[in-house]
Amino acid sequence: MPQQAVVLALANQKGGVAKTTTTVNLGVALRQQGYRVLAIDLDPQSNLSMSQGIDVERLETTMFDVLVHGTPLTEVLHVRELDVAAAGIELAGAELALSASIGRERALQRAIAPIRHAYDVILLDTPPSLGLLTINAMVAADGVIVPVQCEYLSLRGLAQLQATLEQVRDNLNPDVGIVGIIPTMYDGRTVHAREAVELLEQSFGDVVYDVRIGKTIRFAEAPVRGSSVLAYDPGGQAARWYRQLAREVIARELRPEREEVRA
Ligand SMILES: Nc1ncnc2c1ncn2[C@@H]1O[C@H](COP(=O)(O)OP(=O)(O)O)[C@@H](O)[C@H]1O
Ligand SMILES: [Mg+2]
Repeated sequence: MPQQAVVLALANQKGGVAKTTTTVNLGVALRQQGYRVLAIDLDPQSNLSMSQGIDVERLETTMFDVLVHGTPLTEVLHVRELDVAAAGIELAGAELALSASIGRERALQRAIAPIRHAYDVILLDTPPSLGLLTINAMVAADGVIVPVQCEYLSLRGLAQLQATLEQVRDNLNPDVGIVGIIPTMYDGRTVHAREAVELLEQSFGDVVYDVRIGKTIRFAEAPVRGSSVLAYDPGGQAARWYRQLAREVIARELRPEREEVRA
């Protein structure tokens, strides 16, 4: 096991593709495998924090303070099914607050450095944009995992994501790339979904994980209870999908001698 946490950003500038759902459920599945997992909420909508039962309106310190004021990450940690660094709506102001500061793209990387030895995996949940918060995640990350909805139009957005990643590589973090693509909300009964995944595999090959996360209402129900699907319905299909994803992520990213497959 590596000495320092492997940092993985969940990113896709499209909203509603299961970034947050994947951060929570992959994180909890890894936790259940014995890994020490921290999930950092970088979305002003705070869905990750809320879905672990954190009352975000009552928080005094959040990721905004960490990024803008240099408050230690340990001060915004909440121990739930996994450790969560919480966000609130004020994070919407972070991009503007950071924009004039030197090293604005490295605020998150700096915040993570002192606690990196305390975890095996750090997952970064990003907002639906390619702005400064997502750039901070790309700079701090060893790799990017992209959840994509199995629809043709969703796949087209990947080119934009790749272009941003290329700029990050050229200027800020030479080693970061897409390490995994996870097809979500997959309905294998439709030709369209099957074709979309085929196209994804033609373009990205082995970077696409083997598991397909299907559609089920469990994913909407669990956060209302402040829990992952693994706790809400441990025997269900939804939990099984994310346990399989966790096994794939462990095999590819968390083994000491990592085989490099990236796009
Ligand atoms: N596999 C799935 N099947 C059905 N609904 C899902 C699935 N994954 C996520 N959802 C639901 O879709 C919505 C968007 O998911 P979310 O994880 O918040 O996306 P994002 O973080 O990319 O905006 C949420 O209501 C979530 O409960
Ligand atoms: Mg989200």
